[in-house]
Amino acid sequence: MSRLQDKVVLITGAGRGIGRACALRAAQEGADLILTDIGGAKDFVPYQLSSSDQLEVTAEQCRAYGASVLTQLADVGSMDDVTALVEAGLQRFGRIDTLVNNAGIGAPAGKATHLYTSEEWEVLMGVNLSGPWRLIKAVAPVMIEQQHGSMVNIASTAGLLGYKHFAGYVASKHGVVGLTKSAALDYASYNIRVNAICPGPVYDDERLDGHMTKVVADALGIRLGDQESIDLASVAMNTVVSPMDVAEAMLWLASDGSHRVTGTTVTVDAGYAAK
Ligand SMILES: NC(=O)c1ccc[n+]([C@@H]2O[C@H](COP(=O)([O-])OP(=O)(O)OC[C@H]3O[C@@H](n4cnc5c(N)ncnc54)[C@H](O)[C@@H]3O)[C@@H](O)[C@H]2O)c1
Repeated sequence: MSRLQDKVVLITGAGRGIGRACALRAAQEGADLILTDIGGAKDFVPYQLSSSDQLEVTAEQCRAYGASVLTQLADVGSMDDVTALVEAGLQRFGRIDTLVNNAGIGAPAGKATHLYTSEEWEVLMGVNLSGPWRLIKAVAPVMIEQQHGSMVNIASTAGLLGYKHFAGYVASKHGVVGLTKSAALDYASYNIRVNAICPGPVYDDERLDGHMTKVVADALGIRLGDQESIDLASVAMNTVVSPMDVAEAMLWLASDGSHRVTGTTVTVDAGYAAK
């Protein structure tokens, strides 16, 4: 029995990495998909975000599993883009069963808290924290009308712990954990569940165009290999997490198997935060 058969899943940041892993895993389990990414650059983000071609690669791979897929570019920093995305998704599928708030940026970073510019701080909050809020704002009325739904916010162990020289990212991800808890209370009576996943260090899986470990290494001004060694040394299980491990947790939170789980965080970190 496919765990997301006849469900419609909306995933942000689906062009690569964890977002692509979530899309593939949902497609394997029978879901139809609304996939979105920015498809271009964003001011003050010092590395390349996903292209529209990368989003189409994700979509094609999902169609190969039999999924119906709508792709639409949207900047989660824009309420107009998010509203248009949800309207297009509803026009195509008529409902949204699961929202996966995955889009996020790992930099600007790599400096002490007072050295961020106002613009750098605002872009981190605008994408990582206000982005998920914009999606919730657009999708919650749909799920209230349906009287069911599951929202899954991809936070981070940076939503639970501090990381030196990453104050903007850490503050935004702590915000996502708080947003998750309050939204869970707001929507529990409508049979809508809201949970967060806190991945620890995730390796850059080339098959998924993974990118984030390199972003972190670049922000700290160290070699990718050195960052990978630091990540490996910091986890209890002596192995870092794969994007598919995160997708597996997403699948559980999206599916009926977790029907009594809301307002919580699922930590997928190979023991990183246990210390
Ligand atoms: N990789 C890790 O080690 C790790 C660990 C913990 C949490 N996370 C979180 O997981 C999520 C996915 O990260 P990833 O590792 O796959 O990184 P990634 O950079 O490969 O993927 C993030 C995606 O979000 C998209 N995006 C960024 N800004 C956007 C915007 N304004 N509008 C729309 N899309 C936007 C990017 O284009 C990209 O496709 C992020 O929220 C990240 O913070 C990652």
